Amino acid sequence: MARIRPYSEGFALKTQYFTASTLDGFIATEDDSLDWLFPLGDVNETSYPSFIAEVGALAMGSSTYEWMLRHADAVSSSVGSPWPYTQPTWVFSSRSLRLLEGANIRIVQGDVRPVHADMCVAAGSKNVWIVGGGDLAGQFYDAGLLNEIIVQVGSVTLGRGKQIFPRRVTNPPLRLVSTRQVGSGFAELRYEVPMEATAVRT
Ligand SMILES: NC(=O)c1ccc[n+]([C@@H]2O[C@H](COP(=O)([O-])OP(=O)(O)OC[C@H]3O[C@@H](n4cnc5c(N)ncnc54)[C@H](OP(=O)(O)O)[C@@H]3O)[C@@H](O)[C@H]2O)c1
Repeated sequence: MARIRPYSEGFALKTQYFTASTLDGFIATEDDSLDWLFPLGDVNETSYPSFIAEVGALAMGSSTYEWMLRHADAVSSSVGSPWPYTQPTWVFSSRSLRLLEGANIRIVQGDVRPVHADMCVAAGSKNVWIVGGGDLAGQFYDAGLLNEIIVQVGSVTLGRGKQIFPRRVTNPPLRLVSTRQVGSGFAELRYEVPMEATAVRT
């Protein structure tokens, strides 16, 4: 399926999956712990501050959202609010989830394409961020809507956990466009998704 790059005025510029992963390709433990991540470095030394400044809309799956709910106190003491994002956020779930007071959130389900269209309008001239998890990013990829994957590869392994991107992407491969060392804890890799890419679910 052809990639869609909605460059027209008033429409999101790029759809990006920005995440942190272990060296062996996991974004969380099987029980959704991120305790391995935070000791690895200061997020402000990565490209996150410049990245988030250009984000106009977010999407995440329910496990990612429920992690935010469980850690609202810690998030609040770190950034001053239990919900750290000012941008509108779409949470994918087939269940009724508790909405965090003050957060600009809507719960959606099913096909990512109509949701993406709404997100692009909301994002205006900014980008759309697929926060995770990996399969949700894969659903946007499957629909031809994902333009970039940006990964902070942490200097740890977990052996098993939640996969970064459970798809087989081989021909054409992703296009590596930049690498950057962030201390001894992260290698930041930025990939473009070729316009002609197709994937197989793993
Ligand atoms: N390392 C990082 O930087 C990073 C970044 C993001 C996330 N994370 C963590 O990684 C883990 C990701 O968890 P995960 O792999 O389970 O992924 P997830 O995308 O957060 O959650 C998956 C769930 O979302 C719902 N969902 C997904 N697509 C849907 C659709 N099209 N329609 C309706 N519902 C849909 C389903 O649950 P229901 O229908 O049952 O609700 C599905 O089981 C979390 O612990 C998160 O905190 C880490």
